[in-house]
Amino acid sequence: MPRPLHATVFPSALAHNVATVRRCLAQAAEPGASLPRVWAVIKANAYGHGIERMLPGASSADGLAMLDLEEAVRCREAGWAGPVMLLEGFFEPADLAVLERYRLCAVVHDASQLDMIRSIRPRQPLDIYLKLNTGMNRLGFAPGRYRAAYDEALALRAQGLLGSIGHATHFASGDSPEHVTHVAGIFDRATLDMPGARSLCNSAAIFGSPAFAARTDWVRPGICLYGATPFDDGAVSAQALGLRPAMALRSTLIAEQHVQAGGGVGYGARFVADRRRAWGSWPAAMPMATLAMRPPAHPWSFMACARASSAGCRWTCWPSISNPYPRPRWARPSPCGGRMACRSTRWLRPPARSAMNS
Ligand SMILES: Cc1ncc(COP(=O)(O)O)c(C=O)c1O
Repeated sequence: MPRPLHATVFPSALAHNVATVRRCLAQAAEPGASLPRVWAVIKANAYGHGIERMLPGASSADGLAMLDLEEAVRCREAGWAGPVMLLEGFFEPADLAVLERYRLCAVVHDASQLDMIRSIRPRQPLDIYLKLNTGMNRLGFAPGRYRAAYDEALALRAQGLLGSIGHATHFASGDSPEHVTHVAGIFDRATLDMPGARSLCNSAAIFGSPAFAARTDWVRPGICLYGATPFDDGAVSAQALGLRPAMALRSTLIAEQHVQAGGGVGYGARFVADRRRAWGSWPAAMPMATLAMRPPAHPWSFMACARASSAGCRWTCWPSISNPYPRPRWARPSPCGGRMACRSTRWLRPPARSAMNS
């Protein structure tokens, strides 16, 4: 028998969250200004939710962005005809034929990719975004190298090998307005006088610096589309941002443990009971965490409700402060917090019914 664990995904929530992003931008934009278009980031199999399942919701965005060529092809085969962006571009010369066949736009972050375009000479002009490294230090041309890369791209375009040339970067700390302002300065200087669409903002930058995001051409929300707050410390909840969870998990408790005061729970006894505590264990450790977490560590875009049917009592889990569901007054955050949940989610017995009604 498979584990008693059931995940339900909600494409309509993703569509709602795209609309929430647009509303946030519209509220921050100058009156009459045109709004940025939205690349829905559906990398890592739509953050573990399943690309094909989420496509009906994601298709309310203007374009889809991901890492894997194979995922881009899946989107086309599922019927998506709009823009597709590969956030890491292509990896070897043979990829360029796939980009051409499926009309994919590519981020170009390294000179070797310009070399591949020069040697393969695609028959159709390829649309690209040049990527600037503004401090994340993962991908992108250094600011001092950016103009040379742009000039090379212009030369390729003059030969009919490239189409549009946009400009992109990715914030290391999108949730910090100071960081966003600092990076915007680097970006503006590096791309000065260069025409082309500009795309900078992920979820955190959209909600943390909406007036700035509203002045760009394309935004790239990811995690918020699945209903999780992009703010690491949970300072602003998903609910306060108007986001809806795109996944619900339902299960049953498979064990009950009674821990005496001083007893440890879980790996490394990260939680030590302050008094006698009742715990339930839910059959959703790593596999569940993988499902909801791939790859950014935001496992909290799910609601969890469990029913200890054998004991006839009801348990509800509040594993994280950023769990997007409104918390019943009687439910308390798990003292293990988020750290525990990727190992095993634990449940606190709620107070007696009389206390629940108070
Ligand atoms: C280049 C790029 N843009 C946008 C995103 C979306 O980021 P987030 O999920 O924080 O909104 C990602 C995700 O990692 C990314 O790599």
